[in-house]
Amino acid sequence: MMYVTFSGPGNYFVFLSKLKSMQSKEILVPYDEFTGSETLDPGVARLIRKAELAADHAYAPYSGFHVGVTIELTDGQVFTANNQENSAYPSGLCAERVGLFFVQANYPETAIKRLILVAKQNGRLTDEPVYPCGACRQVMVESVKRQTVPFEIWMVGRDRLLRVDSPDYLLPLKFIL
Ligand code: THU
Repeated sequence: MMYVTFSGPGNYFVFLSKLKSMQSKEILVPYDEFTGSETLDPGVARLIRKAELAADHAYAPYSGFHVGVTIELTDGQVFTANNQENSAYPSGLCAERVGLFFVQANYPETAIKRLILVAKQNGRLTDEPVYPCGACRQVMVESVKRQTVPFEIWMVGRDRLLRVDSPDYLLPLKFIL
């Protein structure tokens, strides 16, 4: 192991030279996998259907990747969102953040219960579940921090569906202030 030292008082070297042991550790990601639609709660199936319809209204002329989101709040309200692209690419926004920012802007006092995520390509739901990008995970963990209770994320594909009980599981070792 090489340590980089800095000029100056040498504090960094003093600190690093105290690190005398190393342990390998791992972080587990608990999730539930569903492979048959008959095992699904009909309420969740309805939310998935809504996300599929939302994906159909995505504005994704550049990627052709149409993402749909349903967000269910703890008071029963349900909202949908989709990705919004722009010819200046970074100006666009993922479906998850469009949805999260909308509900947080309009219902800041109401907690999110579930977020459902689907994607369509060429008009067809992807075989594999779609997983949120890193930036959306960062926003999700901040949403949990804001509302102080976790929310479920359902990542949907034709072949299987994955559920995590909290965004925290999707972003271990997260940055949070
Ligand atoms: N996208 C989302 O909306 N959510 C994701 O989780 C992954 C990516 C969008 C961004 C872009 O409009 C398109 O999918 C292709 O990356």
